[in-house]
This record gives sequence, C-alpha cells and structure tokens, in this order.
Amino acid sequence: MNTYDVIILGAGAAGLMCALTAGQRGRRVLLIDHLDQPGAKILISGGGRCNFTNLNTTADRFLSANPHFARSALGRYTQHDFIALVEKHGIAYHEKTLGQLFCDESAKNVVQMLLDECAAGGVDIRLSTHVRGVRHGGDFQVETAAATFTAPRLVLATGGPSIPKMGATGFAYDVARQFGLKIVEPRPALVPLTLGSETLETARALAGVAVEGLVSAGAGRFREAVLFTHRGLSGPAILQVSSYWRHREPVIIDLAPDADAFVFLKDRKRERPKAEVKTLLAELLPTRLAQAIAEELGLTGGIANLPDRTLEAVGKRINAWSFVPTGTEGFAKAEVTAGGVDTAGLSQKTLEATKVPGLHIIGEAVDVTGWLGGYNFQWAWSSGWAAGQAV
Ligand code: FDA
Repeated sequence: MNTYDVIILGAGAAGLMCALTAGQRGRRVLLIDHLDQPGAKILISGGGRCNFTNLNTTADRFLSANPHFARSALGRYTQHDFIALVEKHGIAYHEKTLGQLFCDESAKNVVQMLLDECAAGGVDIRLSTHVRGVRHGGDFQVETAAATFTAPRLVLATGGPSIPKMGATGFAYDVARQFGLKIVEPRPALVPLTLGSETLETARALAGVAVEGLVSAGAGRFREAVLFTHRGLSGPAILQVSSYWRHREPVIIDLAPDADAFVFLKDRKRERPKAEVKTLLAELLPTRLAQAIAEELGLTGGIANLPDRTLEAVGKRINAWSFVPTGTEGFAKAEVTAGGVDTAGLSQKTLEATKVPGLHIIGEAVDVTGWLGGYNFQWAWSSGWAAGQAV
C-alpha cells in the first residue's frame, strides 16, 4: 500500500512538474510536502501573477559552476512547451517586458493547472507531511510521522533555503550530503544589496527614487531600474547583479547610461555658465538624485565657478559610481538561492545522481540559478520534466 514507483519530496514548481510527467507515463507517484498547500512560491510569485517563463530562455541566462549543465533539460522541455501547456488550459497571459510572461489573472491558475495535470496522472499528493528521514537499502524508504513509504526512485524537489518563513529549507542539501553528493556553497541571489554608513545615508534620503542604470558586478552587467531603499539598493538591475556579486567586491553603476556626464557638464558650462550643477544634472537624472549628488560633492553656485577636474569627478560619480556593498538582505529576502547540489555529481539528461542510481535532484535545490524574469520557473519545469521522463 505504501509502495510506489517514484516518491517526490517537495510539491513546488519542479516537484509538481516531475510528478505530472511521471504520473502520465503510467508511474505510481507519491508527492510529499510539509506545507498544507502545494506550489506556495508559485502563488506569491510575480506579485501574485506568476512570471512563469521567459521567451528568451537560453542556457547562458543561468549561473552554475558548470555553465553548460542546464542546456540539456532546457533544450528538451522549452519555454514553448510550457506555454503550450498554459494555452491548453486556457490560461490568459501577457508579455510584460524583456520576454517575461505573466498570467493575466492569477498565479492560482498555474497551480490549478499543475494539480489538474497531476490528477490526470493519478499522482498521490500528501500535504502537511513531515519527512523524518530517508534511507536507502535496495529501494528508498521515506519515513514520515504517518507511515514509511518505499520506492525504487526518489526525487528531491524541496528547493533552496530562500524565504524560510514560507517553509523553505536546506533539506535537499542534507539528503544529498547523506548520499555523498557535494554542495556548492548556497548563497542568497536575486536579493537587495545593503550599504555602508555613508552610502546608506544617501540611499535613505533617496528611498523610493528609481533610475534606469547600467549595473555591473563580477561577470554580471544589467541595464534596468535601480531603486534606492531605506536599507540600500534594490530594483531589477540590482537583484540581477546580486547573483554575480561576491563579498568585498565592488558594484559599479552608470546612473546615466545614455550620456557622458563629464562632456554634458562641460557643454553646459559653456552654454549656461550661471546655472547650478544640481539644476543641470536634473536633465540627466531624477531631480532628487541630482540634488543628492550635488550636495554629496558640495557643489553650490554657478557651474562656471567649477574647474573641469571637478566636473570630471561629477561625471565619474554619475557614469561609474563604484562602491562596495556591506552585504545582501540575505535568505530572508532572496528570491532564489544560488549554489546547491553540485551538478558534477548529476546527469544533465535525467538529473540522476551518477553514484546513487534512482536518486534524482531537480529545481532550485540544484546549483543552477536563473536570471530574474521567469527563468527560475523555466528551470523548475525543464528539470522536473527531464527527471519525470526518466523515473
Ligand atoms: P520550491 O521552493 O518552489 O518548492 C519546494 C517545495 O518543497 C515547497 O513546496 C516546500 O514547502 C517543500 N519543502 C521544503 N522543505 C521540505 C521538507 N523538509 N519536507 C517536505 N517538503 C519540503 N521565479 C520565476 O521564474 N518567476 C517569478 O515570478 C518568481 N517570483 C518569485 C517571487 C518570490 C517572492 C520568490 C521567493 C521566488 C520567486 N521566484 C520566481 C523563484 C521561484 O519561486 C523558484 O525558483 C521556484 O519556486 C523553485 O522551484 P522548486 O520546485 O525547485 O522549489
């Protein structure tokens, strides 16, 4: 009675996709979650409208110690496959920006779609079920408070530790370690950055101001909105580079990517010598930001009084603002976890552990992290499908 072909731990995006795929292939599937509802992160994603995929999904939009690892699953179950599923269920959607697809109505539609597909595959879903331990002796045994379940295949789909208050845990890492798999150090990603005292003062004074910036950190470079907050910096461009940023490294922001601020100021010095710098900068930047930069650099009076070397410094502050964040807002605020189960121990095609036949690991638990904009769900769908085909 408690014996299945496949046991999947975690009824999030990846676990649901794996379950419906395996179930519809005729496998007897048990899907377990410790929460009382499936797909909790899907429900809150995209402001409740779930940015469920990205039209521009390609493997180079994912971070991993092995940048080629995600290619196989992403190539076999693509964004177009998921869109076809969404359309089959009559869910209306739209492209918001940069290829990001959102539900017109509600993320609930996506969860219901996955549950309907699971039902079509006869998947047995057990919620509010706490896993006490996993053993492997021939088959896998999953011990819960209610019963011990057995199957020759076990799929870990319990995600990463970002947003623990939503039930996120590092459970997949513990089980992976138990089976001798390595973990690439997990770190918060797609997360706001925090600032040291001086820079923080500026950010606080500007809280709520947004500017389109070109932001770089490590190998990451993104041109999108930067938002000043009471704790530091956020907005899509900052979240994107946070995945590439490492402690003690600088972040560089071009606050006016379409202009050379030094050249602009020199021209204005000639044309409008009596104008104040803060007034002129407001042509390039939001007014409050222009004022804050002028104040920070102690620039008062007409621009004619300022030597070119000062204007050059202002130009640098605008086109190459460089600072070292003190950190990030951590797992409590991170949209995803970078790092995770090392792909070196997994098959690209089936997500099966090469040294532990029958054990598959999918979704965010794996060291594959997408950009902001629907990429992380696409990895959950693709990796879930790939494992679902193999189990
Ligand atoms: P996921 O976290 O979805 O599922 C893991 C499941 O395992 C959960 O149901 C959890 O309860 C369960 N679990 C954990 N530990 C367990 C244990 N010990 N025993 C039993 N069950 C356990 N991505 C995107 O592409 N577009 C978007 O719009 C957003 N928006 C977004 C908003 C917010 C606020 C967050 C926090 C995240 C996003 N994301 C996103 C990221 C996206 O939610 C994430 O990448 C996927 O949900 C990962 O899918 P998984 O199935 O791997 O993990």
